[in-house]
Amino acid sequence: MKQPEIDWSNLSFSYIKTDYNVRCTYKDGKWGEIEVSDSEFIPLHIAASCLHYGQESFEGLKAFRGKDGKVRVFRMDENARRFIRSAEGLKMQPMPEELFCEMVRKVVKLNERFIPPYGTGASLYIRPLEIGISPRVGVSPASEYLVIMLVTPVGPYFKEGFKPTKVCISREYDRVAPKGTGSIKAGGNYGASLVAGEKAHELGYSVMLYLDPKEKKYIDECGAANFFGIKDNRYITPASESILPSITNKSLRQLARDLGMTVEERHVPLEELSSFDEIAACGTAAVCSPVSEIDDLDTGEKYVISENGEAGPVTTILYNKIRAIQYGEEPDTHGWCEIIE
Ligand code: PLP
Ligand code: COI
Repeated sequence: MKQPEIDWSNLSFSYIKTDYNVRCTYKDGKWGEIEVSDSEFIPLHIAASCLHYGQESFEGLKAFRGKDGKVRVFRMDENARRFIRSAEGLKMQPMPEELFCEMVRKVVKLNERFIPPYGTGASLYIRPLEIGISPRVGVSPASEYLVIMLVTPVGPYFKEGFKPTKVCISREYDRVAPKGTGSIKAGGNYGASLVAGEKAHELGYSVMLYLDPKEKKYIDECGAANFFGIKDNRYITPASESILPSITNKSLRQLARDLGMTVEERHVPLEELSSFDEIAACGTAAVCSPVSEIDDLDTGEKYVISENGEAGPVTTILYNKIRAIQYGEEPDTHGWCEIIE
């Protein structure tokens, strides 16, 4: 197996062409066979419902080359179930969990030479997506769907890696509507976040920290990642109908409990920000990214979380713990990883 010429330790979070992607079509009331393709393109009807009415959802998960040389995929059953919820939320055909997992195993094995070596800090990002492909001019759901899974080797999502970043708050932008599609992984949510995201970048912040879209009183989430705060041996994370239930956050909550911490999932009022000892954004891409400062662009308020610009001790422990499980350095006591033979 010839290794590609990639500087694994300096990868960013971006697309690199790999050998294969896998595809599966829902047609005539059933899912077809898994197809393997070496093309980066798809033939698509110009009136496909995904192009006109946003019938698109996606997922993100990772495969890791472990210390023992084995390949581990993290919690793909959770992604499979969220993929089903996203499909249901967009009136698309849900893909059965087992078929989703079969496609993940296949695309990882086919692209084995692109799984970054152990010790480089990089991983193989797996991006499943589903689109409605039937022509629709009137607003109605498609009858045919295509699921594609592509992979690409990635490094850290935020260029700072595990160094704390600054984020900002603005009441000018909502990511999603109060009873909208925030809790599913609809591509449209991300399109709708681009203006705010670019504004944050222009002002020197890594992302926008969104408030709840209804009252603008509570913390929702941090760009394409969930939010958590630490104080008094407590792990506190927002309960909200408009955030994406993060699988990383769910895992960190379990690890926090394992460490004897109290976990609170509840509304987090904006005023509470100043009381946290540590704050971080968490997600598959972001892993656990510490936040050093939060600037409220409307009120001018600055919440300085990390005076010395370093990650806090609890965030560091949680980050190391989840990475150790993913890279097979510590026992996977919760059965989160599947080894791909
Ligand atoms: N929130 C949003 C809006 C996201 O896009 C993501 C990424 O998937 C997350 C949170 C983190 O979720 P997960 O940990 O399942 O990747
Ligand atoms: C992820 O964490 O997997 C994400 O989807 C974040 C972003 C790249 C959309």
